[in-house]
Amino acid sequence: MAVSQQVFLRDAMRRLNLTRDVFAARIGVKRRALDTWLLPEGSQEARNMPEVVSRFVTEIVENSALMEKYAQSAQSGPLRDRIAADSKHQLLSVDQFTRESVEELFRVADLMQPIARRQKVSRVLEGAVLGNLFFEASTRTRVSFGAAFCRLGGSVCDTTGFTFSSMAKGESIYDTSRVMSGYVDAMVIRHPEKGSVAEFAAATNIPVVNGGDGAGEHPSQALLDLYTILTEFSRLGKLLDGAHIVMAGDLKYGRTVHSLIKLLALYRGMKFTLVSPPGLEMPDYLLEKAGKNGHVIEQTHDLAAGLKGADVIYATRVQKERFAGENLEGYTADFQVNRALVDACCGPDVIVMHPLPRDSREGAHDLSTDLNHDSRLAIFRQADNGIPVRMAIFAVLLGVEGLVQHSLRDVTWTPPSHIGPDDSVFHGMY
Ligand code: CP
Repeated sequence: MAVSQQVFLRDAMRRLNLTRDVFAARIGVKRRALDTWLLPEGSQEARNMPEVVSRFVTEIVENSALMEKYAQSAQSGPLRDRIAADSKHQLLSVDQFTRESVEELFRVADLMQPIARRQKVSRVLEGAVLGNLFFEASTRTRVSFGAAFCRLGGSVCDTTGFTFSSMAKGESIYDTSRVMSGYVDAMVIRHPEKGSVAEFAAATNIPVVNGGDGAGEHPSQALLDLYTILTEFSRLGKLLDGAHIVMAGDLKYGRTVHSLIKLLALYRGMKFTLVSPPGLEMPDYLLEKAGKNGHVIEQTHDLAAGLKGADVIYATRVQKERFAGENLEGYTADFQVNRALVDACCGPDVIVMHPLPRDSREGAHDLSTDLNHDSRLAIFRQADNGIPVRMAIFAVLLGVEGLVQHSLRDVTWTPPSHIGPDDSVFHGMY
C-alpha cells in the first residue's frame, strides 16, 4: 500500500460514499476493529488491518468505479441494442462496433475477470443453454465459448463436424438453425464458408455469434485481440492511438486479421505494416476500409524490414486448407517470426501475438517456439482473455451484464497461482 492505512480506508469510504457503520458492515468486520485501523499510526490503540481486508477493500473500490462507468454508458440504452440494432442481438461482424461500444464491452469483460481468474463464481445465466455448432476444426473458440457460458451458470450442448450433424444427410442451414432455436437460447456457429453464419442467423430470432465463417470474419477473436492489446499497453504505459501494428503471415485467408484491422481502424493515427508472402496479401476491400480514417498502411514481403519499430507483431498461420490453387512461394525460413528477428528489429516493450493455433511442425515457419520463455510473447495471455471477453459477449447479448456484479460469490476450490509454467505476475492469477 503506497499510502497509510488510515488514508487508504478514508479514501475508500469517500469513494463508496459509505458511513463508518455501513462500511464496516460492507466489508464484514466489527465497527470497533475498523476504528482501530483508522487511528493514526503510532497511536497506542492503532492496529494493522489484515492483508486480506486490504485486498477486499481494493477490489470493491475498483469494481465500484467500473460500475459507475457502466451506469454512465447505460444511459444511452442497452449495449446490445447498439451493437445489434435489429433486436435479434446477434454478433456476426466487427462492423457492428464503434470505439465507444467496443470499450463498453471491455468494461463488462473487466467485471468478468474475477470469474475468469477463478476467484469468484456467478450464476446469472442459470437455466440458459448454449448450442455450440462447429462445422470446422476448433479448440480455443469452441471450448472457450462453452467455458464462458458455463462460468456464468449456463449449460452447453454441442455438435462438431459435418459427419456428426444431420447436415451430412443433406439438411439445410435454414432447417438446422430453426430446429436448434427450439432447443437452445443462443448459438455459436463456425462454418467453412464465408457468409454461412449470417444464413444461420437469418433463420432464427435467438442470439447467434459468428465463431468464424471461412475466410470471412472471426469477430470474437478480434475483440479478445484488441482487449489483449489494450491490457498489455496499459501495463506498458502505452496508448493505442498512434501505435504501429505489424500483421504478418497469411493475410488473404486469415479471418482474424480481417476482423482485427477493422477494429483497430476505429482508433486514431494507426500505422499498419502488412507483411505476407506473395499472393497472400490482405484483400483490397479491407485495405480501403482500414485506410479511410487516414491511417498509414504499408505492404511488404520482407519480414525483417516490416518489423522495424513495431509496437505489436501479430503473426498468423498460413491457411493452406483454404488455398484455391495458390503456389506458396516466399514462405521460407526467413519468414518466421523468431527471437533473433524480434531482438534485432524491435524494442523491449513490443508484444508478440498470434490467434493460434500455430503450426509447430518441422518446416512450417509459423511463429517460433523459441520465444516461449520471453515475456514479450503474449499468445497465452491472449488466449486466456478469450474467457472474460466471451463471457462479456454472452452477458451483453442476453441482457444480464447489469446483474453480474451483485451475483459474485467466492470460489470454494483452490485455483492454481500460475496456470502455465512461464506465467508472470501480469498473467493475472494473483
Ligand atoms: N483462434 C482460433 O480460432 O482458434 P481455434 O481454431 O482453435 O478455435
